[in-house]
Amino acid sequence: FKVPAIDNEPMRSYPPGSPERAALQAAILEMEQQLPFEVPCIVNGEEPSNPMPHDHQNHLCTYHEADEGTVAKAIDGALAAKAEWEAMPWNDRAAIFLKAADLVSGKYRYKLMAATILGQGKNVWQAEIDAAAELADFLRFGVKFVEELYSIQPGKNAAGSWNRTEYRALEGFVLAVSPFNFTAIGGNLPGAPAIVGNVVVWKPSPAATYSNYLVHKIFAEAGVPAGVIQFVPGPPAEVVAQNIAHPDTFVFKKLWKDIANNLDNYRGYPRIVGETGGKNFHLVHKSAEVRNAALQTVRGAFEYQGQKCSALSRLYVSKYLWENGFKDQLLEEIAKIKIGAPQDWTNFMGPVIGRPAFDKILGYVQKAKEAGGEVLIGGTGDDSKGYYVKPTVILTKDPNSVTMREEIFGPVITAYVYDDDKLDETLELIDTTTDYALTGAIFSTDRSVLIKATNRLRNASGNVYYNEKCTGAVVGQQPFGGARGSGTNDKAGSINIFYRFVSPRSIKENF
Ligand code: ALA
Repeated sequence: FKVPAIDNEPMRSYPPGSPERAALQAAILEMEQQLPFEVPCIVNGEEPSNPMPHDHQNHLCTYHEADEGTVAKAIDGALAAKAEWEAMPWNDRAAIFLKAADLVSGKYRYKLMAATILGQGKNVWQAEIDAAAELADFLRFGVKFVEELYSIQPGKNAAGSWNRTEYRALEGFVLAVSPFNFTAIGGNLPGAPAIVGNVVVWKPSPAATYSNYLVHKIFAEAGVPAGVIQFVPGPPAEVVAQNIAHPDTFVFKKLWKDIANNLDNYRGYPRIVGETGGKNFHLVHKSAEVRNAALQTVRGAFEYQGQKCSALSRLYVSKYLWENGFKDQLLEEIAKIKIGAPQDWTNFMGPVIGRPAFDKILGYVQKAKEAGGEVLIGGTGDDSKGYYVKPTVILTKDPNSVTMREEIFGPVITAYVYDDDKLDETLELIDTTTDYALTGAIFSTDRSVLIKATNRLRNASGNVYYNEKCTGAVVGQQPFGGARGSGTNDKAGSINIFYRFVSPRSIKENF
Protein backbone atom coordinates (compact mmCIF):
# COMPACT_ATOMS: atom_id res chain seq x y z
CA PHE A 1 0.00 0.00 0.00
CA LYS A 2 0.92 3.61 -0.50
CA VAL A 3 -0.69 6.47 1.33
CA PRO A 4 -2.36 8.94 -1.07
CA ALA A 5 -0.50 12.06 -2.17
CA ILE A 6 -0.44 14.63 0.59
CA ASP A 7 -1.06 18.32 -0.07
CA ASN A 8 -1.33 21.42 2.08
CA GLU A 9 -4.83 22.39 3.14
CA PRO A 10 -5.88 25.29 0.88
CA MET A 11 -6.54 28.46 2.87
CA ARG A 12 -9.98 30.00 2.47
CA SER A 13 -10.34 33.74 1.90
CA TYR A 14 -13.86 34.33 3.20
CA PRO A 15 -14.87 37.07 0.74
CA PRO A 16 -17.96 39.10 1.69
CA GLY A 17 -21.11 37.31 0.59
CA SER A 18 -19.39 33.93 0.25
CA PRO A 19 -20.96 30.79 1.76
CA GLU A 20 -17.84 30.04 3.81
CA ARG A 21 -17.95 33.51 5.35
CA ALA A 22 -21.63 33.01 6.22
CA ALA A 23 -20.91 29.57 7.69
CA LEU A 24 -18.07 30.79 9.89
CA GLN A 25 -20.10 33.81 10.97
CA ALA A 26 -22.97 31.53 11.95
CA ALA A 27 -20.63 29.24 13.92
CA ILE A 28 -19.22 32.21 15.87
CA LEU A 29 -22.69 33.50 16.64
CA GLU A 30 -23.93 30.12 17.75
CA MET A 31 -20.95 29.68 20.04
CA GLU A 32 -21.40 33.15 21.51
CA GLN A 33 -25.00 32.35 22.29
CA GLN A 34 -24.14 29.06 23.99
CA LEU A 35 -21.05 29.98 25.96
CA PRO A 36 -19.60 29.21 28.41
CA PHE A 37 -19.02 25.57 27.55
CA GLU A 38 -18.18 22.84 30.00
CA VAL A 39 -15.11 20.80 29.23
CA PRO A 40 -15.01 17.67 31.38
CA CYS A 41 -11.96 15.51 31.86
CA ILE A 42 -11.94 12.38 29.74
CA VAL A 43 -10.11 9.45 31.24
CA ASN A 44 -9.99 6.10 29.51
CA GLY A 45 -12.54 7.48 27.08
CA GLU A 46 -15.05 8.18 29.83
CA GLU A 47 -16.42 11.54 30.83
CA PRO A 48 -17.71 11.83 34.39
CA SER A 49 -21.41 12.16 33.69
CA ASN A 50 -24.94 11.60 34.97
CA PRO A 51 -26.72 9.00 32.88
CA MET A 52 -30.44 9.58 33.31
CA PRO A 53 -31.93 6.73 35.34
CA HIS A 54 -34.94 6.41 33.01
CA ASP A 55 -32.85 6.58 29.82
CA HIS A 56 -29.30 5.52 30.54
CA GLN A 57 -27.98 6.04 27.03
CA ASN A 58 -28.47 9.77 27.50
CA HIS A 59 -26.79 11.97 30.04
CA LEU A 60 -28.17 14.96 31.90
CA CYS A 61 -24.75 16.47 32.36
CA THR A 62 -21.08 15.82 32.22
CA TYR A 63 -18.95 17.25 34.97
CA HIS A 64 -15.43 17.64 36.21
CA GLU A 65 -14.04 15.59 39.02
CA ALA A 66 -11.86 17.49 41.39
CA ASP A 67 -8.29 16.30 41.63
CA GLU A 68 -6.06 16.67 44.66
CA GLY A 69 -4.99 20.16 43.71
CA THR A 70 -8.58 21.33 43.31
CA VAL A 71 -9.59 19.88 46.66
CA ALA A 72 -6.64 21.57 48.33
CA LYS A 73 -7.58 24.86 46.67
CA ALA A 74 -11.19 24.46 47.80
CA ILE A 75 -10.10 23.91 51.40
CA ASP A 76 -7.69 26.85 51.36
CA GLY A 77 -10.27 29.08 49.70
CA ALA A 78 -12.96 28.14 52.21
CA LEU A 79 -10.65 28.85 55.13
CA ALA A 80 -9.67 32.17 53.58
CA ALA A 81 -13.34 33.15 53.24
CA LYS A 82 -14.15 32.22 56.79
CA ALA A 83 -13.33 35.26 58.92
CA GLU A 84 -15.42 37.63 56.86
CA TRP A 85 -18.33 35.22 56.57
CA GLU A 86 -18.45 34.44 60.27
CA ALA A 87 -18.22 38.12 61.10
CA MET A 88 -21.08 39.05 58.79
CA PRO A 89 -23.98 40.35 60.91
CA TRP A 90 -26.58 37.65 61.48
CA ASN A 91 -29.33 39.63 59.78
CA ASP A 92 -27.32 39.73 56.58
CA ARG A 93 -26.60 36.00 56.63
CA ALA A 94 -30.28 35.42 57.37
CA ALA A 95 -31.31 37.58 54.42
CA ILE A 96 -29.09 35.60 52.08
CA PHE A 97 -30.70 32.30 53.04
CA LEU A 98 -34.22 33.72 52.95
CA LYS A 99 -33.47 34.96 49.46
CA ALA A 100 -32.11 31.53 48.50
CA ALA A 101 -35.38 29.99 49.73
CA ASP A 102 -37.37 32.40 47.56
CA LEU A 103 -35.23 31.58 44.54
CA VAL A 104 -35.91 27.89 45.16
CA SER A 105 -39.66 28.28 45.54
CA GLY A 106 -39.93 30.92 42.80
CA LYS A 107 -37.52 31.60 39.97
CA TYR A 108 -35.76 28.22 39.98
CA ARG A 109 -38.60 25.98 41.16
CA TYR A 110 -39.33 24.23 37.87
CA LYS A 111 -35.72 24.07 36.78
CA LEU A 112 -34.72 22.40 40.03
CA MET A 113 -37.64 20.03 39.73
CA ALA A 114 -36.80 19.20 36.12
CA ALA A 115 -33.21 18.43 37.12
CA THR A 116 -34.44 16.22 39.96
CA ILE A 117 -36.92 14.44 37.68
CA LEU A 118 -34.49 13.81 34.84
CA GLY A 119 -31.32 13.34 36.87
CA GLN A 120 -32.56 11.46 39.92
CA GLY A 121 -35.65 9.75 38.50
CA LYS A 122 -38.25 11.34 40.81
CA ASN A 123 -41.76 11.67 39.53
CA VAL A 124 -43.31 15.12 39.46
CA TRP A 125 -44.96 14.88 42.88
CA GLN A 126 -41.86 13.54 44.56
CA ALA A 127 -39.80 16.31 42.95
CA GLU A 128 -42.27 18.90 44.21
CA ILE A 129 -42.01 17.53 47.77
CA ASP A 130 -38.22 17.52 47.58
CA ALA A 131 -36.65 20.09 45.26
CA ALA A 132 -39.34 22.74 45.71
CA ALA A 133 -41.02 22.44 49.11
CA GLU A 134 -38.51 20.71 51.37
CA LEU A 135 -35.50 22.59 50.08
CA ALA A 136 -37.23 25.96 50.52
CA ASP A 137 -38.40 24.82 53.97
CA PHE A 138 -34.91 23.78 55.06
CA LEU A 139 -33.58 27.22 54.15
CA ARG A 140 -36.44 29.31 55.61
CA PHE A 141 -36.87 27.26 58.77
CA GLY A 142 -33.10 27.17 59.09
CA VAL A 143 -33.14 30.93 59.52
CA LYS A 144 -35.94 30.69 62.09
CA PHE A 145 -34.16 27.95 64.05
CA VAL A 146 -30.87 29.84 64.12
CA GLU A 147 -32.70 32.95 65.30
CA GLU A 148 -34.10 30.84 68.15
CA LEU A 149 -30.72 29.29 68.89
CA TYR A 150 -29.00 32.67 69.13
CA SER A 151 -31.69 33.88 71.51
CA ILE A 152 -30.97 31.07 74.00
CA GLN A 153 -29.04 33.02 76.63
CA PRO A 154 -28.21 32.35 80.29
CA GLY A 155 -30.65 35.02 81.47
CA LYS A 156 -29.16 35.11 84.97
CA ASN A 157 -26.66 37.78 85.96
CA ALA A 158 -24.97 38.62 89.26
CA ALA A 159 -25.35 42.27 90.26
CA GLY A 160 -23.20 44.54 88.10
CA SER A 161 -22.50 41.93 85.46
CA TRP A 162 -23.91 40.50 82.26
CA ASN A 163 -23.60 36.91 81.02
CA ARG A 164 -24.13 36.02 77.45
CA THR A 165 -23.55 33.15 75.06
CA GLU A 166 -21.94 33.59 71.71
CA TYR A 167 -22.63 30.86 69.14
CA ARG A 168 -19.39 30.64 67.22
CA ALA A 169 -18.97 28.71 64.01
CA LEU A 170 -16.81 25.61 64.35
CA GLU A 171 -13.09 25.98 63.88
CA GLY A 172 -11.85 24.96 60.47
CA PHE A 173 -14.32 23.96 57.81
CA VAL A 174 -17.21 21.56 57.38
CA LEU A 175 -17.12 18.75 54.84
CA ALA A 176 -20.63 17.99 53.56
CA VAL A 177 -21.09 14.72 51.69
CA SER A 178 -24.61 14.62 50.33
CA PRO A 179 -26.66 11.71 48.97
CA PHE A 180 -28.44 11.46 45.61
CA ASN A 181 -31.93 10.83 46.87
CA PHE A 182 -32.99 14.30 48.03
CA THR A 183 -32.05 17.51 46.28
CA ALA A 184 -33.24 19.15 49.50
CA ILE A 185 -30.66 17.25 51.56
CA GLY A 186 -28.07 18.30 48.99
CA GLY A 187 -28.99 21.87 49.86
CA ASN A 188 -29.34 21.40 53.59
CA LEU A 189 -26.04 19.65 54.24
CA PRO A 190 -23.95 22.62 53.10
CA GLY A 191 -26.65 25.19 53.87
CA ALA A 192 -27.24 24.41 57.55
CA PRO A 193 -23.61 24.78 58.64
CA ALA A 194 -23.14 27.83 56.43
CA ILE A 195 -26.12 29.67 57.97
CA VAL A 196 -24.35 29.69 61.33
CA GLY A 197 -21.12 31.03 59.87
CA ASN A 198 -19.22 27.92 58.85
CA VAL A 199 -17.45 27.49 55.55
CA VAL A 200 -18.17 24.28 53.72
CA VAL A 201 -16.51 21.97 51.23
CA TRP A 202 -19.45 20.21 49.60
CA LYS A 203 -19.07 16.96 47.74
CA PRO A 204 -22.34 16.29 45.95
CA SER A 205 -23.46 12.81 45.00
CA PRO A 206 -22.25 11.85 41.51
CA ALA A 207 -25.85 10.83 40.75
CA ALA A 208 -27.25 14.25 41.63
CA THR A 209 -24.56 16.49 40.21
CA TYR A 210 -26.76 18.69 38.06
CA SER A 211 -29.54 19.48 40.55
CA ASN A 212 -26.93 20.08 43.22
CA TYR A 213 -25.00 22.37 40.91
CA LEU A 214 -28.18 24.41 40.44
CA VAL A 215 -28.54 24.62 44.21
CA HIS A 216 -25.02 25.95 44.40
CA LYS A 217 -25.82 28.57 41.73
CA ILE A 218 -28.82 29.61 43.82
CA PHE A 219 -26.67 30.03 46.92
CA ALA A 220 -24.31 32.23 44.91
CA GLU A 221 -27.14 34.28 43.38
CA ALA A 222 -28.65 34.77 46.81
CA GLY A 223 -25.37 36.27 48.00
CA VAL A 224 -23.33 33.48 49.61
CA PRO A 225 -19.81 34.82 48.96
CA ALA A 226 -17.38 32.88 46.77
CA GLY A 227 -15.43 30.36 48.83
CA VAL A 228 -18.01 29.96 51.60
CA ILE A 229 -19.61 26.89 50.01
CA GLN A 230 -17.18 25.10 47.70
CA PHE A 231 -18.79 22.76 45.18
CA VAL A 232 -16.42 19.87 44.66
CA PRO A 233 -17.70 16.87 42.71
CA GLY A 234 -15.22 14.09 42.58
CA PRO A 235 -14.50 10.46 43.05
CA PRO A 236 -16.03 9.94 46.51
CA ALA A 237 -13.14 8.19 48.14
CA GLU A 238 -10.48 10.61 46.99
CA VAL A 239 -12.26 13.85 47.84
CA VAL A 240 -13.40 12.58 51.19
CA ALA A 241 -10.07 11.06 52.18
CA GLN A 242 -8.23 14.23 51.34
CA ASN A 243 -10.63 16.31 53.39
CA ILE A 244 -10.37 14.01 56.37
CA ALA A 245 -6.62 14.06 56.28
CA HIS A 246 -6.69 17.83 56.43
CA PRO A 247 -6.26 19.09 59.99
CA ASP A 248 -9.31 21.39 59.98
CA THR A 249 -12.20 19.17 59.20
CA PHE A 250 -15.52 18.15 60.75
CA VAL A 251 -17.25 15.21 59.13
CA PHE A 252 -19.69 12.33 58.84
CA LYS A 253 -20.41 9.06 60.61
CA LYS A 254 -19.44 6.44 58.08
CA LEU A 255 -16.03 8.05 57.94
CA TRP A 256 -15.69 7.75 61.68
CA LYS A 257 -12.76 5.35 61.69
CA ASP A 258 -10.78 7.36 59.17
CA ILE A 259 -11.41 10.40 61.27
CA ALA A 260 -10.25 8.58 64.37
CA ASN A 261 -7.09 7.62 62.51
CA ASN A 262 -6.46 11.27 61.83
CA LEU A 263 -7.29 12.44 65.32
CA ASP A 264 -3.73 13.46 66.08
CA ASN A 265 -3.89 15.89 63.17
CA TYR A 266 -6.77 17.90 64.61
CA ARG A 267 -6.74 20.63 67.20
CA GLY A 268 -10.08 19.48 68.58
CA TYR A 269 -12.62 16.70 68.39
CA PRO A 270 -14.45 16.76 65.07
CA ARG A 271 -18.23 16.89 65.09
CA ILE A 272 -19.78 14.11 63.07
CA VAL A 273 -23.33 14.49 61.87
CA GLY A 274 -24.56 11.53 59.91
CA GLU A 275 -27.71 10.05 58.50
CA THR A 276 -26.81 6.61 57.35
CA GLY A 277 -29.85 4.70 56.22
CA GLY A 278 -32.65 2.62 57.58
CA LYS A 279 -34.53 -0.65 57.66
CA ASN A 280 -37.85 0.85 58.48
CA PHE A 281 -40.90 -1.00 59.72
CA HIS A 282 -44.66 -0.96 59.62
CA LEU A 283 -46.41 -2.87 62.37
CA VAL A 284 -49.97 -3.62 61.33
CA HIS A 285 -52.00 -4.79 64.32
CA LYS A 286 -55.24 -6.71 63.96
CA SER A 287 -57.11 -3.64 65.16
CA ALA A 288 -55.77 -1.52 62.27
CA GLU A 289 -58.05 0.10 59.74
CA VAL A 290 -57.20 -2.23 56.90
CA ARG A 291 -57.59 -0.01 53.85
CA ASN A 292 -55.56 2.81 55.35
CA ALA A 293 -52.83 0.40 56.45
CA ALA A 294 -52.62 -1.15 52.97
CA LEU A 295 -52.51 2.21 51.15
CA GLN A 296 -49.98 3.71 53.53
CA THR A 297 -47.85 0.60 53.14
CA VAL A 298 -47.82 1.00 49.36
CA ARG A 299 -46.88 4.66 49.62
CA GLY A 300 -44.27 4.16 52.34
CA ALA A 301 -42.52 1.40 50.41
CA PHE A 302 -42.79 2.43 46.77
CA GLU A 303 -42.84 6.21 46.46
CA TYR A 304 -39.56 7.20 44.84
CA GLN A 305 -38.97 3.50 44.25
CA GLY A 306 -38.19 2.93 47.91
CA GLN A 307 -35.08 5.09 47.69
CA LYS A 308 -35.84 7.24 50.70
CA CYS A 309 -33.75 6.47 53.75
CA SER A 310 -37.10 6.49 55.57
CA ALA A 311 -38.78 4.02 53.18
CA LEU A 312 -40.67 1.05 54.52
CA SER A 313 -38.94 -2.28 54.01
CA ARG A 314 -39.96 -4.54 56.92
CA LEU A 315 -43.64 -5.27 57.27
CA TYR A 316 -45.06 -7.07 60.31
CA VAL A 317 -48.73 -7.91 59.87
CA SER A 318 -51.24 -9.60 62.13
CA LYS A 319 -52.23 -13.02 60.80
CA TYR A 320 -55.88 -12.20 61.26
CA LEU A 321 -55.66 -8.99 59.24
CA TRP A 322 -53.36 -10.49 56.61
CA GLU A 323 -55.99 -13.12 55.90
CA ASN A 324 -58.92 -10.74 56.23
CA GLY A 325 -58.32 -8.08 53.67
CA PHE A 326 -54.83 -6.72 54.14
CA LYS A 327 -52.97 -9.08 51.82
CA ASP A 328 -55.59 -8.78 49.07
CA GLN A 329 -55.80 -5.02 49.24
CA LEU A 330 -52.04 -4.64 49.36
CA LEU A 331 -51.49 -6.79 46.28
CA GLU A 332 -54.43 -5.21 44.42
CA GLU A 333 -53.05 -1.73 44.98
CA ILE A 334 -49.56 -2.78 43.93
CA ALA A 335 -50.88 -4.39 40.76
CA LYS A 336 -52.36 -1.01 39.81
CA ILE A 337 -49.05 0.85 40.10
CA LYS A 338 -47.96 2.47 36.86
CA ILE A 339 -44.22 2.52 36.40
CA GLY A 340 -42.22 4.37 33.75
CA ALA A 341 -40.44 7.58 32.82
CA PRO A 342 -40.63 10.04 35.70
CA GLN A 343 -41.57 13.01 33.52
CA ASP A 344 -44.80 11.22 32.53
CA TRP A 345 -47.32 12.67 34.95
CA THR A 346 -49.27 9.42 35.25
CA ASN A 347 -46.44 7.26 36.56
CA PHE A 348 -46.44 6.48 40.27
CA MET A 349 -43.00 4.89 40.11
CA GLY A 350 -39.92 5.66 38.01
CA PRO A 351 -36.49 4.09 37.66
CA VAL A 352 -34.00 3.32 40.40
CA ILE A 353 -30.93 5.49 40.38
CA GLY A 354 -28.46 3.41 38.40
CA ARG A 355 -26.92 0.13 37.39
CA PRO A 356 -25.38 -0.77 40.76
CA ALA A 357 -28.71 -0.09 42.50
CA PHE A 358 -30.62 -2.15 39.92
CA ASP A 359 -28.27 -5.10 40.34
CA LYS A 360 -28.19 -4.83 44.11
CA ILE A 361 -31.96 -4.73 44.48
CA LEU A 362 -32.57 -7.73 42.24
CA GLY A 363 -29.67 -9.49 43.93
CA TYR A 364 -31.51 -9.14 47.23
CA VAL A 365 -34.67 -10.58 45.68
CA GLN A 366 -32.61 -13.55 44.59
CA LYS A 367 -31.08 -13.97 48.03
CA ALA A 368 -34.53 -13.82 49.61
CA LYS A 369 -35.79 -16.54 47.28
CA GLU A 370 -32.79 -18.73 48.02
CA ALA A 371 -33.55 -18.33 51.72
CA GLY A 372 -37.08 -19.61 51.19
CA GLY A 373 -38.88 -16.29 50.70
CA GLU A 374 -41.93 -16.27 48.45
CA VAL A 375 -42.25 -13.44 45.94
CA LEU A 376 -45.93 -12.46 46.08
CA ILE A 377 -45.67 -9.76 43.43
CA GLY A 378 -42.88 -8.11 41.40
CA GLY A 379 -39.37 -9.43 41.82
CA THR A 380 -38.21 -8.56 38.31
CA GLY A 381 -36.72 -5.60 36.51
CA ASP A 382 -36.10 -4.21 33.06
CA ASP A 383 -32.92 -2.29 32.35
CA SER A 384 -33.18 -2.11 28.57
CA LYS A 385 -33.76 1.66 28.53
CA GLY A 386 -33.97 2.75 32.15
CA TYR A 387 -33.40 1.01 35.46
CA TYR A 388 -36.89 -0.18 36.31
CA VAL A 389 -37.59 -2.54 39.17
CA LYS A 390 -41.14 -3.71 39.80
CA PRO A 391 -42.67 -3.07 43.21
CA THR A 392 -41.97 -6.26 45.08
CA VAL A 393 -43.35 -8.06 48.11
CA ILE A 394 -41.50 -11.02 49.57
CA LEU A 395 -43.25 -13.11 52.18
CA THR A 396 -40.88 -14.68 54.67
CA LYS A 397 -41.34 -17.18 57.44
CA ASP A 398 -37.95 -16.25 58.85
CA PRO A 399 -38.16 -12.86 60.58
CA ASN A 400 -34.37 -12.67 60.69
CA SER A 401 -33.80 -13.43 57.02
CA VAL A 402 -31.38 -11.28 55.07
CA THR A 403 -33.97 -8.96 53.51
CA MET A 404 -35.44 -8.34 56.95
CA ARG A 405 -32.04 -7.21 58.21
CA GLU A 406 -30.14 -5.41 55.47
CA GLU A 407 -30.93 -2.15 53.74
CA ILE A 408 -31.91 -2.69 50.10
CA PHE A 409 -32.75 0.91 49.13
CA GLY A 410 -35.25 -0.10 46.51
CA PRO A 411 -38.92 -1.01 46.03
CA VAL A 412 -38.91 -4.21 48.06
CA ILE A 413 -41.03 -5.06 51.10
CA THR A 414 -40.28 -8.17 53.11
CA ALA A 415 -43.43 -9.18 54.96
CA TYR A 416 -43.65 -11.32 58.08
CA VAL A 417 -47.06 -12.45 59.27
CA TYR A 418 -47.20 -12.78 63.05
CA ASP A 419 -49.57 -14.81 65.20
CA ASP A 420 -52.01 -12.51 66.91
CA ASP A 421 -51.11 -13.83 70.34
CA LYS A 422 -47.43 -13.05 69.70
CA LEU A 423 -47.43 -9.26 69.76
CA ASP A 424 -44.72 -9.13 72.46
CA GLU A 425 -42.43 -11.43 70.49
CA THR A 426 -43.07 -9.38 67.37
CA LEU A 427 -42.13 -6.16 69.10
CA GLU A 428 -38.96 -7.88 70.28
CA LEU A 429 -38.21 -8.85 66.66
CA ILE A 430 -38.77 -5.35 65.36
CA ASP A 431 -36.36 -4.03 67.93
CA THR A 432 -33.62 -6.61 67.56
CA THR A 433 -33.60 -7.84 63.95
CA THR A 434 -31.52 -4.98 62.59
CA ASP A 435 -29.22 -2.29 63.92
CA TYR A 436 -30.91 0.43 61.89
CA ALA A 437 -33.32 2.65 63.78
CA LEU A 438 -34.61 5.41 61.54
CA THR A 439 -38.39 5.30 61.06
CA GLY A 440 -41.36 3.13 61.80
CA ALA A 441 -45.14 3.20 61.82
CA ILE A 442 -47.70 1.50 63.99
CA PHE A 443 -51.17 0.82 62.64
CA SER A 444 -53.86 0.22 65.24
CA THR A 445 -57.16 1.72 66.32
CA ASP A 446 -56.46 0.61 69.88
CA ARG A 447 -54.57 3.24 71.87
CA SER A 448 -53.25 0.68 74.36
CA VAL A 449 -51.50 -1.07 71.45
CA LEU A 450 -50.01 2.20 70.25
CA ILE A 451 -48.74 2.93 73.74
CA LYS A 452 -47.36 -0.55 74.29
CA ALA A 453 -45.59 -0.66 70.92
CA THR A 454 -44.25 2.88 71.27
CA ASN A 455 -42.78 2.07 74.66
CA ARG A 456 -41.29 -1.27 73.67
CA LEU A 457 -39.84 0.24 70.49
CA ARG A 458 -38.43 3.29 72.25
CA ASN A 459 -35.02 2.88 70.60
CA ALA A 460 -36.09 1.17 67.38
CA SER A 461 -36.60 4.38 65.42
CA GLY A 462 -36.00 8.12 65.58
CA ASN A 463 -39.34 8.87 63.94
CA VAL A 464 -42.53 6.94 64.58
CA TYR A 465 -45.92 7.50 62.99
CA TYR A 466 -49.34 6.31 64.09
CA ASN A 467 -51.60 5.05 61.31
CA GLU A 468 -49.53 6.77 58.66
CA LYS A 469 -46.62 5.67 56.48
CA CYS A 470 -43.10 5.93 57.84
CA THR A 471 -41.89 8.42 55.22
CA GLY A 472 -42.55 12.10 54.59
CA ALA A 473 -41.26 14.03 57.60
CA VAL A 474 -42.03 17.72 57.16
CA VAL A 475 -39.46 20.38 58.08
CA GLY A 476 -40.54 22.14 61.25
CA GLN A 477 -43.16 19.46 62.01
CA GLN A 478 -41.39 16.13 62.45
CA PRO A 479 -37.69 16.60 63.21
CA PHE A 480 -36.04 13.82 61.24
CA GLY A 481 -33.29 11.36 62.08
CA GLY A 482 -32.43 8.03 63.63
CA ALA A 483 -29.93 6.54 66.04
CA ARG A 484 -28.16 3.17 66.26
CA GLY A 485 -26.92 2.28 62.76
CA SER A 486 -29.03 5.02 61.22
CA GLY A 487 -26.87 7.91 62.31
CA THR A 488 -26.27 10.52 64.92
CA ASN A 489 -29.96 11.49 65.25
CA ASP A 490 -29.27 15.19 65.09
CA LYS A 491 -32.70 15.86 63.65
CA ALA A 492 -32.74 17.63 60.33
CA GLY A 493 -35.60 20.09 60.03
CA SER A 494 -35.33 21.23 63.64
CA ILE A 495 -33.28 23.50 65.86
CA ASN A 496 -31.27 20.49 67.10
CA ILE A 497 -29.06 20.16 64.06
CA PHE A 498 -27.81 23.71 64.39
CA TYR A 499 -26.34 23.01 67.83
CA ARG A 500 -24.00 20.61 66.07
CA PHE A 501 -22.58 23.29 63.83
CA VAL A 502 -21.76 25.84 66.52
CA SER A 503 -19.32 26.01 69.38
CA PRO A 504 -20.83 28.20 72.09
CA ARG A 505 -18.69 30.59 74.12
CA SER A 506 -19.80 32.02 77.47
CA ILE A 507 -18.88 35.63 78.01
CA LYS A 508 -19.11 37.36 81.40
CA GLU A 509 -18.75 41.11 81.58
CA ASN A 510 -18.49 43.19 84.76
CA PHE A 511 -19.73 46.76 84.68
N1 ALA B 1 -37.18 13.23 55.43
C1 ALA B 1 -37.54 12.25 54.46
C2 ALA B 1 -38.70 11.44 54.89
O1 ALA B 1 -39.11 11.54 56.01
C3 ALA B 1 -36.39 11.37 54.16
O2 ALA B 1 -39.20 10.69 54.12
